[in-house]
Amino acid sequence: MFTHLPSLGVGLGFRQPFKSDLFLNRQQVDFLEIVAEHYLQPSWQQQQELELLASHFPLIPHAINLSLGSAEGVDTDYLRQLAALIKQLNPPWWSEHICFTRAGGVDIGHLSPLPYTKEAVKVLCRNIAEVQRWIDVPLILENITYMVTLPSAEMTEAQFLAEVVKNADCGLLLDVTNLYINAVNHGYDVQQFMQDLPWERVVQLHFVGGHWHDGILIDSHSQATPPQIWELIDEVVARVAIKGIVLERDENIPEFAQLTAELQQAREIGRRHGRWG
Ligand SMILES: [Fe+2]
Repeated sequence: MFTHLPSLGVGLGFRQPFKSDLFLNRQQVDFLEIVAEHYLQPSWQQQQELELLASHFPLIPHAINLSLGSAEGVDTDYLRQLAALIKQLNPPWWSEHICFTRAGGVDIGHLSPLPYTKEAVKVLCRNIAEVQRWIDVPLILENITYMVTLPSAEMTEAQFLAEVVKNADCGLLLDVTNLYINAVNHGYDVQQFMQDLPWERVVQLHFVGGHWHDGILIDSHSQATPPQIWELIDEVVARVAIKGIVLERDENIPEFAQLTAELQQAREIGRRHGRWG
């Protein structure tokens, strides 16, 4: 189903603070994931930056504010800008989250969880169908972290993700860290969760480390990836012919060598399981 997509290898979520280090270590990064919102109405400098990045790396646009779970539908002005960016970059795939970020015309400023109901699946699929009318590049959807579980669930989170990607005919961006953090904070079994995932749709992974605060594991993208998450990555890569793995470090950014060491570790896992050379 997604087997025709190219194998991109090991990538990094692009962040301004390591821009010069990135170009000094060009050979150690196979591709970049860029935050789409940064380039929707680009200044001259942002346009120059985008062109520079695109001339050196394959770029995967990662959108965060389309709000695919909004009952009121997607914002068509925003969608028009996003479609133009994706058309300009012509990537093999692009990504968004299974969540909502806008309700009643108000921007929440946060990736918020949806109730695991048939109604929410319907809303997502309707919005995604609209998005797919504008953008014909394959869309992969990411699982988010959440602090609260909403009542009235009609299925588990894993079943919900599976229903959405199957009915909307999308791929899955499995954020292994998000999966691990939710399992820890909400006390569910990762193995049980993984049994319900539509493995044939997993295209890309995200990984990074978070930090502990008052007994809760926080999805802060601020620490080195811990051993438990490396084990999960290994398990997932053994199971599915993934096309890319992305490290998304946002906070407390270390020496660039520490990032490339993590990329190298991910690259080795992919090699060991024959996902790339
Ligand atoms: Fe992520």
